[in-house]
Amino acid sequence: MSLIPYALTRPFLFGLDPEHAHEITLNTLERFQNTPLQRFWACARDQAPIKLAGLTFPNRVGLAAGLDKNGRAIDGLGAMGFGFIEVGTVTPKPQPGNPKPRIFRLPEAEALINRLGFNNEGLASFLSNVQKAYSFRAQGGLIGLNIGKNATTPIERATDDYLIGLTGVYPHADYITINISSPNTANLRQLQSDEALDQLLGALQERRGLLEQQYKRRVPIFVKIAPDLDETQIAVIAQTLLKNQIDGVIATNTTISRKAVTGLQHADETGGLSGRPVFEASNLVIRQLRSHLGAAFPIMGVGGILSAEDALSKRAAGADLVQVYTGLIYKGPQLVKDITKVLMD
Ligand code: FNR
Repeated sequence: MSLIPYALTRPFLFGLDPEHAHEITLNTLERFQNTPLQRFWACARDQAPIKLAGLTFPNRVGLAAGLDKNGRAIDGLGAMGFGFIEVGTVTPKPQPGNPKPRIFRLPEAEALINRLGFNNEGLASFLSNVQKAYSFRAQGGLIGLNIGKNATTPIERATDDYLIGLTGVYPHADYITINISSPNTANLRQLQSDEALDQLLGALQERRGLLEQQYKRRVPIFVKIAPDLDETQIAVIAQTLLKNQIDGVIATNTTISRKAVTGLQHADETGGLSGRPVFEASNLVIRQLRSHLGAAFPIMGVGGILSAEDALSKRAAGADLVQVYTGLIYKGPQLVKDITKVLMD
């Protein structure tokens, strides 16, 4: 149990602009991780090891990508009890992202809209941060590194950026996520469609073969997809994942749909919607993936988990592991504990 109840911290953070609140929190975690002050937010990690994609996850609950884009607070975040932490999305070169404001809260819907646009310090800084993390790893925590493309790289050259990312992160990752589903980088989601996906994953699989020989270790590759896909598209994606020996899928990213939030303040902001309103759409994608991929294919379920019950629904939909982001903003670190407890099977 952490020393500071989130019920006391949240009103302070929600009084600030969302991105400012985010920076203060991340700075605090970075500054005081691995010090005695970490006890103010730490929770003992519940151990329920599960073998998946050739890895042993200490439990089924992970942090979703995008909260720690530069990988600077892995140990601090890990101390909340997560079994795995995914950091990034990182792009080969640093980039500022979109103009501010670019994160909005929709509290009535327990949701966020963001159009950050892969703001990050670039691959070199990211790798130096990731290598500094030690306590989470020492406790068996796994680290996923999530890669994307720079905004200035034309979409026809996207594969180049993903190959740079794959090659750079390979020796430092427990697993690697190929993010082709952010709505905030122009044309990125086109990479989910038929030939584009096959071409991208084919190139990544080939490079992974070389990296596997070089490092004598096969690092599993996960592909992260959007919730805004119909069943035909999902069936094609499933076949393409299998064909290219991809190890797992993460479903889902944020949605561009606003159906679930019509009329609410900020609902019309451009960007990706996360939290409660994406829950059902993500579950549907997970169910469809499971039916097309078979029982053994690793699936991480993410989107709108705000309670233990939600996590159980994700499992029932077919997810082996779950990740949270927006739920952590609304419920605090206790959510990690609550979810882990019901996923000890
Ligand atoms: C995200 N998400 C995200 N995903 C990703 O693969 N790379 C990224 O850089 C980001 N960035 C990001 C920023 C912000 C502010 C949010 C809210 C989300 C998506 C995230 O990992 C997750 O897939 C969705 O938010 C759905 O899960 P939740 O938030 O409903 O639990």
